[in-house]
Amino acid sequence: VARDNPAVRRLADWDAARLDELVDEYGTPLYVTDLDRVRENCTRLRDAFPDAEVRYAVKAHTGRAVLETVREAGLPAECASAGEVHRALGAGFSGDELQYTAVHPPAEDLDYVVDAWREHPDLTITVGAADTAERLRERGFDGRLCIRVNPGVGAGHHEKVRTGANAKFGVPYDRAADLVQSASEEFDLVGIHAHAGSGISGDDLENHRELVRRMGDLAREVAAAGVDLEFVDVGGGFGVPYREDEPALDLPAVAEATREALGDIDATLAVEPGRYVVADAGVLLTRVNTVKETPETVVAGVDAGMTTLLRPAMYDAYHAIRNLSAETGGTDAGDARETVGATVVGPICESSDVFCENRPLPRPDRDDLLAIGNAGAYGYEMASTYNSRPRPAEVALGGGAGGESGESGEDAALVRRRETLTDLTEVESR
Ligand code: LLP
Repeated sequence: VARDNPAVRRLADWDAARLDELVDEYGTPLYVTDLDRVRENCTRLRDAFPDAEVRYAVKAHTGRAVLETVREAGLPAECASAGEVHRALGAGFSGDELQYTAVHPPAEDLDYVVDAWREHPDLTITVGAADTAERLRERGFDGRLCIRVNPGVGAGHHEKVRTGANAKFGVPYDRAADLVQSASEEFDLVGIHAHAGSGISGDDLENHRELVRRMGDLAREVAAAGVDLEFVDVGGGFGVPYREDEPALDLPAVAEATREALGDIDATLAVEPGRYVVADAGVLLTRVNTVKETPETVVAGVDAGMTTLLRPAMYDAYHAIRNLSAETGGTDAGDARETVGATVVGPICESSDVFCENRPLPRPDRDDLLAIGNAGAYGYEMASTYNSRPRPAEVALGGGAGGESGESGEDAALVRRRETLTDLTEVESR
């Protein structure tokens, strides 16, 4: 049976009764990750970019179950640290499925990755500075190298996630051709790379196109100088709709625009989305602890906070919120909850610990279960233990989540256990 694979899964599409059962079993706060949806997103990306290499930027969600699902779906891994390479190797990615993008790498990261390269000589290292290439050479690395370029054009949902014109990232565009040329004498120079930023929407598409144009020009320039590129990686950043009424990115149209902007090159196009693969495959479930009325709003204090999901505090990011209890509470249609302006806040002693302000929601009650949408990307991944709050648990659904030993029909599995108070102090020596 052909599965429906729509471009977006909205928070409203999740089955409230099922989420309720999961909470009965695993408690809150709880991340739920649907591996079938991860697989569908991989498929849609590959269909939209049929002759490109689609890599998964693992930073969006590095959980083992997700990595294995993505690997089985045929996407290689783009890693930003030794830790991410370590996770990718652990999840079974082979050397030729591994791309390490060094961002001002500490010595330990280079040591680790060069060691990994000796065992997996097909892995590729991307550097954003001549200095990093030099540090690799000092360690004996002469393998597959890619040069990250600063294209001078950025895009993304927030200033803090635009990398394309930020001095921190990449070799200045005007110097890139020279570095590609000289590096090709010492390494197996295989590619050039640039990334505009994260959360590219329709409004940013022109910036994305401009970046791709510049990369196409650079590819032709170095080819003319005799350097044979295997790939041109134009980064990730494809946005997903966070607001209920926001349109989805038209991925085939983005792919088409990318191809057109790149022009004719004698190399494979590569893209490396993270968010797009996992965002709508995840929800965060949280319980209301405290309800308080002020003249302006109804404040609902929940057990998840900025330590569970940082994006609202850090980027003012909007995440859809559903009051599941108002739907499944067994109320008759007659006593449906009234809609109020709700302010949903966490338990952290910071004024930025707010998920939404005065948003129309069914009146929250103590013990209500809320679901927060699009939590699959940069959700658990950015969680911390600030205020000494142990990190939440994560359950995976679908895709044989229960593992081979799972009971038949058992499609949920605890893939990250809830941290305990003891975990908090375990690393300390006194
Ligand atoms: N490639 C490179 C080199 C990147 O730096 C990134 C993201 C990606 C690919 C994947 O971007 P994506 O397709 O996921 O947009 N924590 C922020 C996002 C930071 C992204 C950093 N780099 C957020 O929650 O919005």
